[in-house]
Amino acid sequence: MLKLLSLLAILPYLCHSLPATTPDLTPGRTALDNFPLIDGHNDLPYNLYSKLKNQISKFAFDSDLSNDTVFGFQACKSCFTDLERAKKGKLGGQFWVAYVDCNPSNYSTIVSRSFEQVDVIQRLIKKFSDRMQFVTTADGILDAFKNKKIASLIGLEGGHSIDNKMALLRQFYDAGVRYMTLTHTCNLPWADASPVDDSNNSPEVNLTKFGEKIVLEMNRLGMLVDLSHVSHNVMSRALDVSKAPVIFSHSSAFTVHNHHRNVQDDVLEKVKLNQGVVMVNFYTAFVGNDNATIDDVIKHINHIVDKAGIDCVGIGSDYDGVSSVPKGLEDVSKYPDLFDKLKEQNPERWTIANLEKLAGKNLYRVFKSVEAVRDQLATSMPDESLIPDEDLAENTASVGVLPTFISIVISAIILKL
Ligand SMILES: *[C@@H]1O[C@H](CO)[C@@H](O)[C@H](O)[C@H]1NC(C)=O
Ligand SMILES: *[C@@H]1O[C@H](CO)[C@@H](O)[C@H](O)[C@H]1NC(C)=O
Ligand SMILES: *[C@@H]1O[C@H](CO)[C@@H](O)[C@H](O)[C@H]1NC(C)=O
Ligand SMILES: *[C@@H]1O[C@H](CO)[C@@H](O)[C@H](O)[C@H]1NC(C)=O
Ligand SMILES: [Zn+2]
Repeated sequence: MLKLLSLLAILPYLCHSLPATTPDLTPGRTALDNFPLIDGHNDLPYNLYSKLKNQISKFAFDSDLSNDTVFGFQACKSCFTDLERAKKGKLGGQFWVAYVDCNPSNYSTIVSRSFEQVDVIQRLIKKFSDRMQFVTTADGILDAFKNKKIASLIGLEGGHSIDNKMALLRQFYDAGVRYMTLTHTCNLPWADASPVDDSNNSPEVNLTKFGEKIVLEMNRLGMLVDLSHVSHNVMSRALDVSKAPVIFSHSSAFTVHNHHRNVQDDVLEKVKLNQGVVMVNFYTAFVGNDNATIDDVIKHINHIVDKAGIDCVGIGSDYDGVSSVPKGLEDVSKYPDLFDKLKEQNPERWTIANLEKLAGKNLYRVFKSVEAVRDQLATSMPDESLIPDEDLAENTASVGVLPTFISIVISAIILKL
């Protein structure tokens, strides 16, 4: 009898070790303990500019700001980020975004203001260096993770910031910028932005020869080419031209929700060949409608996997760049819920290993590959090309030269998407 009882007592443990019959109950969030979750896009630095004029000496980034009188939910529709909630959210790496508006009425200060945004990111990281680590290399991300700090990288949002100059592209690289989004919502003399894909607009310059040279100079420098915000043609052309895998730092899937900021299927197929990464944006207007939920975000993630493969998907929330986020992903503390839910809904696809890819391994692989291409190109000379006059004449929004004709300025001044 005793023998039988003790056998019964160990029975559950015996069963537990039979792999074929036992479902894997490991929560999806475990992936975020194994490999850093690297978010491609957070606009907190823009909020620091608009609310504090970048004066961060009293900014309590290391406390929970949910109810803060400046950065809390009540006070600020586009504020979702602080280090307390990021810790809950298991955030392992973040591209902090240097962005200034591309409104033609203040072109003359675009470059200086862009460097001010790079500067405030650097100061923020220094001020909170017990929780953040400045990173400019792929392996730096892993080092920060080992140190239990948020790997903190800089992304530059919008080619308007380089004033049509290779020299400025290089100087931003030297300042630590590791991706540049080719455009924001304004057309540039060398690249169209996504609003041209709306039915009442039309493509203008695509990616010009000079635009192609900018992509190649980014390849030479080891700067990631970010194709969020550009037009469909420019995405496609840049994918043809780039010698390294590209990223979409904050874009979702067009087939799931028809919006010009999302990535169309033919481009996703090219991303599969290029082995780049599309980092899914959480903004309700891109993933669905005002009532979008975490489940809509999951649809976008799965669609990108269907078309581009499991190696080409990532996370690019756009927290602090948008005014409305899905139910279930209310702030930076919620990422683990997304990983749990993916695994619950589709455990075959979303193994822990695949969730690690989504979290950061794919972006890490792309970054390594971008560094390898840079090393291969180490003997090629810096590009001394100047923007040709015909690019400036043909187009619309040229930085420094007051445009004769202003094409598209979506009022991304308060809200910058
Ligand atoms: C913020 O306020 C809400 C509602 O009063 C409360 O439930 C929550 O605990 C507060 N959070 C913090 C961090 O103070
Ligand atoms: C740029 O110009 C717009 C329109 O005049 C203005 O609303 C905005 O505040 C300006 N931005 C800066 C940084 O001066
Ligand atoms: C623009 O880019 C697309 C995508 O690569 C290409 O099919 C098209 O021919 C280009 N158009 C021009 C005018 O270069
Ligand atoms: C969102 O949900 C509310 C309440 O159910 C509904 O009235 C509204 O029409 C929905 N909005 C959209 C854009 O579907
Ligand atoms: Zn954006």
